[in-house]
Amino acid sequence: MYCTQHITSDILFVGASDRKLARFENVFPIPRGVSYNSYLILDEKTVLLDTVDQAVRERFFENLAAGLQGRPLDYVVVNHMEPDHAATLMDVLRDYPEAKVVGNAKTVSMIGQFFDGDISGRAVTVKEGDTLTTGRHTFTFLMAPMVHWPEVMVTYDAAEKVLFSADAFGTFGAFSGNLFADQVNFERDWLDDARRYYANIVGKYGTQVQTLLKKTAGLDIAYLCPLHGPIWRENIGWFVDKYQTWSSYAPEEQAVAIFCGSVYGHTENAAEIVANRLAEKGIKEISLHDVSGTDVSVLVSEAFRCSHLVLASSTYNGGIFTPMENFLTDLKAHNFQNRTVAVIDNGSWAATAGKQMRELVGTMKNMTVLENSVSLKSSVKEAQRTELEALADALAAELLG
Ligand SMILES: Cc1cc2nc3c(=O)[nH]c(=O)nc-3n(C[C@H](O)[C@H](O)[C@H](O)COP(=O)(O)O)c2cc1C
Ligand SMILES: [Fe+2]
Ligand SMILES: [Fe+2]
Repeated sequence: MYCTQHITSDILFVGASDRKLARFENVFPIPRGVSYNSYLILDEKTVLLDTVDQAVRERFFENLAAGLQGRPLDYVVVNHMEPDHAATLMDVLRDYPEAKVVGNAKTVSMIGQFFDGDISGRAVTVKEGDTLTTGRHTFTFLMAPMVHWPEVMVTYDAAEKVLFSADAFGTFGAFSGNLFADQVNFERDWLDDARRYYANIVGKYGTQVQTLLKKTAGLDIAYLCPLHGPIWRENIGWFVDKYQTWSSYAPEEQAVAIFCGSVYGHTENAAEIVANRLAEKGIKEISLHDVSGTDVSVLVSEAFRCSHLVLASSTYNGGIFTPMENFLTDLKAHNFQNRTVAVIDNGSWAATAGKQMRELVGTMKNMTVLENSVSLKSSVKEAQRTELEALADALAAELLG
C-alpha cells in the first residue's frame, strides 16, 4: 500500500526507508537503516526526481502510481546514477513509456553502462545552468561533479525555492514518519549519523563540496531535499555550516578523540591514563575508542569531529596493529587534514608502530604531531605514567589555551 507525504502542495515524497540492510554500500553498518528519497512534482507536466534502491522498489512503485493518479509521468531527472538511486530507473521508463530522462552527458552514458536497452530517443541532455519548465515550476540544473560520483548534479526549483541536493546533505537513518529535520531532534538523534555519512561517503571530496556550496550560496533555499534522510525547511544554515566545517576538514569541536589498538590491554591502559589526566585537567570533550571493536566508519567520523587525536597502538609483526593501520589508511583515503595528533606505541621487543604511525600521519596535509610521544615496552611503568601525564598535559594546554 502506498505511503507518501506532501513536502509542498505539489511536491510529493515517494521514496521509502530500508530497515533491513546491514551495511550501506556493503561496507558501512546502518543499524538505524537508511532512506532512499524520491520526489514527484505534480505540475502541468509531472516530474520524478531520482528513483530508489531495489530494496524498496515495491513501496516506491506504489507511491509513484498513487501520486500520479493515472496521469502520465513526463520526466525523470537523474541527479545521481549510483544504484541506490537509479537501480529502478529502467523499470520506471518501462512502466511510464512517455517519460523522458533528464541528465547530463555523463549520466546518459552511465545509464548505458548500467542498463541494456537504448534510451537515446528519450534522453534530454542538460548542462550547467540549463532549465526545464513544466508549468509553474522551472528547474535549473547545476553540476556537482564528485559530490560522490562524477555525474552528480543538483536541481533547483525556483517556484518553491527547493534545492534537490542529491547525496549532499544526506544522512544514514530510516524515517519514523517525520520527514522534516525540524520535526525530529536532529542534533540528538541524527547528527552523528549525518557526520558518519558525510565523512565516509563524501569526506574525500571536500574541495568539490566547497565548490557546490559556493555555487548554491546565492540561491534562495526554502527546502533542502537530499536523497537520504531528513528534508530541511528550517535552520538550513545550521546544517550548511556543518558542511562548511566538514568539507574544509576543520574540526567541528575542540575535543580529544583517543583511538587505541591493544592486544592484551596494556596500550589500552595507557590510553585510559591519558583520558583520566585530561579529565583531571578539566577537559570535558574526551572520547576513547577501541579500534578493534568499533567500526572504522565510526572512527573516521569521530576524527572528523575532533580537533585533537591520540593514536595509541601496539606493534604487530613489525607494523602498526592492523585495525589501527586500517583506520589510519582510511583517514588518509578520505583526505583527512588539519589536526593535532599525539602518538603512543607499545612493543615487547622492538616497538615500531609509533614511528610508522607518525609516517602515515605525515602523509596527510597540515597535521601537527605533538613532541610528547610515549613508547611502552609491554606494560605501563611508573616512569611512563609520568610521560603519559605529560602528554595529556600538553594536549590539555592546547585545548584550554
Ligand atoms: C601477533 C603479534 C605480533 C607482535 N609483533 C611485535 C613486533 O613486531 N614488535 C614488538 O616489539 N612487539 C610485537 N608484539 C608484542 C606487542 O606489541 C606487545 O606485547 C603489545 O604491544 C603489548 O601491549 P597490549 O597489551 O596493549 O597488547 C606482537 C604481539 C603479537 C600478539
Ligand atoms: Fe551516492
Ligand atoms: Fe546515495
